Amino acid sequence: MVELALYHPELGFYETGGAAGRGGDFLTSPEVGPLFGAVLARALDSWWRDLGEPSSFTVVEAGAGRGTLATSILAAAPACRPALRYVAVERSSTLRARLPEGVEPAAVLPAEPFVGVVLANELLDNLPFGLIERQAEGWAEVRVTEDLAETLVPVDDPAEDRLAPEAPVGGRIPTQRAAGAWVDRAFRLVRPGRVVVIDYADTTPSMAARPWTEWVRTYRAHGRGGSPLADLGRQDVTCEVAVDQLPVPTSDRSQAEFLRAHGIDDLAHEAQQAWEARAHIGDLQALVARSRAQEAAALTDPTGLGAFRVLEWACGVDPDG
Ligand SMILES: C[S@@+](CC[C@H](N)C(=O)[O-])C[C@H]1O[C@@H](n2cnc3c(N)ncnc32)[C@H](O)[C@@H]1O
Repeated sequence: MVELALYHPELGFYETGGAAGRGGDFLTSPEVGPLFGAVLARALDSWWRDLGEPSSFTVVEAGAGRGTLATSILAAAPACRPALRYVAVERSSTLRARLPEGVEPAAVLPAEPFVGVVLANELLDNLPFGLIERQAEGWAEVRVTEDLAETLVPVDDPAEDRLAPEAPVGGRIPTQRAAGAWVDRAFRLVRPGRVVVIDYADTTPSMAARPWTEWVRTYRAHGRGGSPLADLGRQDVTCEVAVDQLPVPTSDRSQAEFLRAHGIDDLAHEAQQAWEARAHIGDLQALVARSRAQEAAALTDPTGLGAFRVLEWACGVDPDG
C-alpha cells in the first residue's frame, strides 16, 4: 500500500509533486536553511580525513529529493571538494529532474563499491513497511483490501514475536524489512567508508506500547494528513524507524549531539556575531546571519529536529570520527 501511495509512477505522492520544503508538504532539516548542509560539509571533511584524504571520495546521498542538501553542502565548499563525486539518488523522476548542477543524478544506489559515504536524511521512514498486531493467540498482519479496508491475517513467524515480546494484546508494531535491507546494501558499498542515516526513530518494544497512529504519520501542505488509507497519493505516509530492526549501528546519537560534534555551535556563534555587527545596517548579509542563528536553534531543538537519531555504520574507519 505504501509503495503505491508514495511511488506509483503516475499517481504516487512523490511523482505528482509531493516534496519537502517551505513550498512543499513538510519541512526537513536541509529545508530549514543552508546551515544543516554547512555542518554536513564539515562532517564529510572529517570522514574524508579519517580515510587519509583519498583523491577520489564518493558521497552518495540517497532519497535526495530536489537536492537541497546537496546544494548546501557544495555551497559550503568543503576541503574534500576536489576529490568529491556527489551522486544524488532519487527514486522519483519528477524530483530527479529538479536536482542541481554539480551532482550526478541516479535512480538507484550504485552497483559497485566505492571509497566514501552513503548519506540519507529522512529516507528510511519513507520506505514501505508492514504492520502487525498482537492478538491473544499470536500476531496478525494488518493488510489492506481492494476497497481500502483493514483485514487481519494471522502470521506464524516466531521472528515477529521476538521484536516485541511484551506487546499488549491489540498493540501494533511495524515490520521494516525494506529499511534493514537498504542499510545492509548501503553498508556493502562503502569499502571503506560509512553509512550515515538521519531520521526519527524509536525501538519496536517502545512502539508496541504507543498508539500506532502516533508513529505512522501522514503529512501534506505542512500539516498532518488523515488516515493512511485516505487520499492515497495525495499525502505523505511515514513510519518512525525501529532502530532494533536495522543492522546494529557503530554509533547512534541525537541530531543535536551529532551537529554539535561537527561544529554547529561555532557556525552559529559566528553568525550571531555577524548579525550583531551588521544588525544596524540590516543588509542581506545581516539577515543571512540572523537566519543562520535561528536555524541552529531549530536543528538542535530537543523537542523537534534535534531529537532525530543519527545512525552510523563504519567500515574500515575509526567509528568515532
Ligand atoms: C521525506 S523525503 C526526504 C527528502 C530529502 N532527503 C530531505 O531531507 O529533504 C524522502 C525522499 O526519498 C525518496 N525515496 C524513497 N525511496 C527511495 C529509494 N529507494 N531510493 C531513492 N530515493 C527514495 C522519495 O522519493 C523522497 O524524495
